[in-house]
Amino acid sequence: MTEQVFAVVPAAGIGSRMQADRPKQYLYLDDATILEHTVKRLLQFTPFQKIVLPLAEHDEYFSQLNLHHERLLTCDGGAERYHSVLNGIDCLLQHGAQVTDWVMVHDVARPCITQQDLRALWSARDEQGCILGMQVRDTMKRTDNNNQIVNTVEREQLWHALTPQLAQIGVLKQSIETCIKNGHVITDEASALEYVGLHPKMVSGHPSNIKVTRPDDLIMAQLFVQEFK
Ligand code: C5P
Repeated sequence: MTEQVFAVVPAAGIGSRMQADRPKQYLYLDDATILEHTVKRLLQFTPFQKIVLPLAEHDEYFSQLNLHHERLLTCDGGAERYHSVLNGIDCLLQHGAQVTDWVMVHDVARPCITQQDLRALWSARDEQGCILGMQVRDTMKRTDNNNQIVNTVEREQLWHALTPQLAQIGVLKQSIETCIKNGHVITDEASALEYVGLHPKMVSGHPSNIKVTRPDDLIMAQLFVQEFK
């Protein structure tokens, strides 16, 4: 039987660092919101059976987009990103996914994801999990509380962790649940896999795959969205 892959796109954050009048995923880049750009690019990746968007409880923007597709689902988000991801996984399991299938988790705030990166990650699938990343290029420094440099950190084998992050559905679900049970705080899926002793593989991704976090990022994202249409 061919292997199946699904996507969870956590979209329940408020993006407070953007200081905008709405959650950052509903800000516009050209003629469409960040969320629409992200979803459009994920829908173009034909191996995805279903894509689920966990949304904030009082989200008043998504319904106004009129975004409908037979492969697109929504569910309730949670208090933290990992709760939203868990809800997304449970929603997929209720819509035909099996625990042995695969899931890519992708931040809604990364609208410049390329088909090439999605293909590379899917080809690299591994029982330990795998994620897109970018090797650190700059010299890295550690500072103290006064911003004075303590030392230079060896940058060999140091990466920025991006998304999507890919794992088998059952493995990821169990790993996140273990973290929650033990009070271990995680900010990405790989951290949950690492916590249970797995060693996800790093797949080198395109530098355009930025996360829109602060106002300046919008300018970069706008350029990349136009460049990689
Ligand atoms: O705020 P930040 O950019 O780190 O959030 C990463 C991703 O997690 C975003 O796509 C955001 O919408 C999502 N998120 C979520 N549920 C939360 C918090 C964040 O789905 N409770």
